[in-house]
Amino acid sequence: MKILGIETTCDETSAAVVENGRYVLSCEIATQISEHSLYGGVVPEIASRMHTESIVEVVDSAIKKSEISLSDIDAVAVSAAPGLIGAVLVGLSFAKGISISLNKPFIPVHHIRGHIASCYISNPELEPPFLCLIASGGHSLIVNVKNYTDLEILGRGIDDAAGEALDKVARVMGLGYPGGAVLDKLSEGELIDDGTLPYPNTKNPLDFSFSGLKTAAVNLVHNAKQRSYEIDKKHLATVFCTKIATILLDKAELALRQLSYKKLAIVGGVAANSQLRKLAETRLTKNNIEVYTPKMLYCGDNAAMIAAAGYYEFLDGNVGGMGIAGAACMSVEEKFIL
Ligand code: KG4
Ligand code: ZN
Repeated sequence: MKILGIETTCDETSAAVVENGRYVLSCEIATQISEHSLYGGVVPEIASRMHTESIVEVVDSAIKKSEISLSDIDAVAVSAAPGLIGAVLVGLSFAKGISISLNKPFIPVHHIRGHIASCYISNPELEPPFLCLIASGGHSLIVNVKNYTDLEILGRGIDDAAGEALDKVARVMGLGYPGGAVLDKLSEGELIDDGTLPYPNTKNPLDFSFSGLKTAAVNLVHNAKQRSYEIDKKHLATVFCTKIATILLDKAELALRQLSYKKLAIVGGVAANSQLRKLAETRLTKNNIEVYTPKMLYCGDNAAMIAAAGYYEFLDGNVGGMGIAGAACMSVEEKFIL
């Protein structure tokens, strides 16, 4: 079954064709990062306009590169929530239009379920049940993936998401936006935890809190400015990335123990982080935990993961819902009311 996936929830316009939820025939991504970096973050109105400008070309190109014709598509899947609502509506309306014109099933997909499915593309052997750590610009979550469409949240971010904290600290350090990958590069993948930064506690040990940690790092930068000395940017980048990776994996390990699971998937933009990948390999594989990560291309927002998730939603019968309006917020546990 070949599914056309469409993704426009934030600042990437993406379209992909994926066969049976696992095999990517094409995946096109038009990023808007250079436009938004002028403003130090994503500007929702600009994002919506840019999606509108590029969606036809991106979908067209995904179809061409898949070497099939549009009429060979069996269904259309689209990220319908959560996201910037104006941006979501561009992809959603476009997908509904294609689905109506081809008379093919329409599958609304939860964006985070898409991130989880990014691991199915890169790891054909991965099957539920497993634990999934999701770390992106907007979300930090620990999810029990009981089966492809039955998910339970065990831990969630109670303030800044991991990627958000990385981006905010990088911005204060003058490293531009989005800064997660810049901090990663600056730290050269080194792992150093020398007590420079605090370890945040949360009432639910599986929840995440990164805002105090972010403020501690920001204070170091501000103090240095006020006292007119240069901070060691490489050192701060290294200890900050190490601390975030450590916290993410501490919680994931705790959840793995609670569930007696032996499989951990790590997804989302922050899954590209080299400290996180390195630490996961050394800490978890030692305890016989299989670690699954997406290929770098599929860590950030992309439509291949949406088509992959759409396949499993289709198999579960979650098809239809032409009337759905998209949503800025929605729990990953929820299903669309079709
Ligand atoms: O999943 P994603 O592309 O978009 C959202 O759905 O939010 O995640 C974007 C986040 C940004 O905060 C970005 O700084 C972070 O992922 N990121 C990284 C790296 N590459 C992207 N964080 C740490 N290390 C990286 N290599
Ligand atoms: Zn995302």
